[in-house]
Amino acid sequence: MTSKPVTPRVTSLSGKGKMTYYGVCSGCHSYSTRLIGPPVNVIQALYKDNPKGIAEFIANPTHKREDYPEMPPQNYLSEETRVAVAEYMLTLKK
Ligand code: HEC
Repeated sequence: MTSKPVTPRVTSLSGKGKMTYYGVCSGCHSYSTRLIGPPVNVIQALYKDNPKGIAEFIANPTHKREDYPEMPPQNYLSEETRVAVAEYMLTLKK
């Protein structure tokens, strides 16, 4: 038996963003091809320096594009997670 206290695992925010992106968003968004949702490079052009804008949109999406279905709300994610995934999405390069 070890007597050392177990140190809690620290999940960094960017790690959380990445996990959420690949676990949730990448099913409908890819970097440069159209899936269910618009490509990430299109989203990056719209939300360049505005991760908060993405975090707000995904909590309560509005139907914007005629040629796409409506995005389901991701409001089960905490605000912190929504900002983290938005920031991660904006850093993707491929
Ligand atoms: C079930 C499929 C689906 C999932 C999962 C999904 N999206 Fe979407 N997303 C869409 C669709 C469809 C649209 C286009 C909606 C429209 O334009 O009306 C969209 C649009 C968007 C937009 C564009 C907003 C705008 O103002 O034009 C952003 C940003 C976005 N998604 C981010 C995310 C993020 C971040 C995640 C992961 C947390 C995610 N999406 C998960 C389907 C999805």
